[in-house]
Amino acid sequence: MSKILNIISSPRGEASNSIKLSNAIIEELRAKDPGAAVQLRDLTSGPFPHLEEAHLNAFFTPAENHTDANKEAIRHSNEAIQEIMDADVLVIGAPMYNFSIPSVLKSYFDHIARAGITFKYTAEGPVGLLTGKKAYIAVTTGGIYSSGDAVAYDFVTPYVKTILGFIGITDVTIVRAEGFAMAEFQETALDKAIDSIVL
Ligand SMILES: Cc1cc2nc3c(=O)[nH]c(=O)nc-3n(C[C@H](O)[C@H](O)[C@H](O)COP(=O)(O)O)c2cc1C
Repeated sequence: MSKILNIISSPRGEASNSIKLSNAIIEELRAKDPGAAVQLRDLTSGPFPHLEEAHLNAFFTPAENHTDANKEAIRHSNEAIQEIMDADVLVIGAPMYNFSIPSVLKSYFDHIARAGITFKYTAEGPVGLLTGKKAYIAVTTGGIYSSGDAVAYDFVTPYVKTILGFIGITDVTIVRAEGFAMAEFQETALDKAIDSIVL
């Protein structure tokens, strides 16, 4: 039975386009694999803190030397990393907010990129350690970024692909719903994206 980890980063609940698109991806995954279990990680109801000195101290102190304060500071990070390790498939909702990802998703990535745990440095450069997983990213935008002048301003898809690849998740499919702020596209944007899902 495969395990799907669904990461939510839009605070818009039932109105959220990235949640609707993520749910459509999960529906198709479960149509293929009805026994698949879904674990939800809602970053908006349980946000990861911005990295502070206490987090960094804990990250760079060997586990055997952790104080109680280090253990508390690293708790979010350890839980999130274990959750990803347990998952076979990630479905991440990534709306574009001010040309990039919501800050709750950036904070989450800051807690899961850990030297020696999710990536390591070698003589040949960094190597990701969370291998063998598949990720679908539900990217939703007000404008159009798949073609035309705005392609260069999409900092969502290159960043998400880069950070996931850095920790070893290289099999990444982007599912894009775009034009929600444009009268000619907003009615059809979600259905068009759902039709484009290829598992
Ligand atoms: C705070 C905020 C910032 C946004 N910034 C952008 C942007 O830079 N470019 C864009 O095309 N759309 C932008 N949008 C529109 C969203 O990307 C679009 O509405 C998307 O569907 C939101 O996904 P959600 O419904 O899952 O939150 C922004 C929306 C919000 C609420």
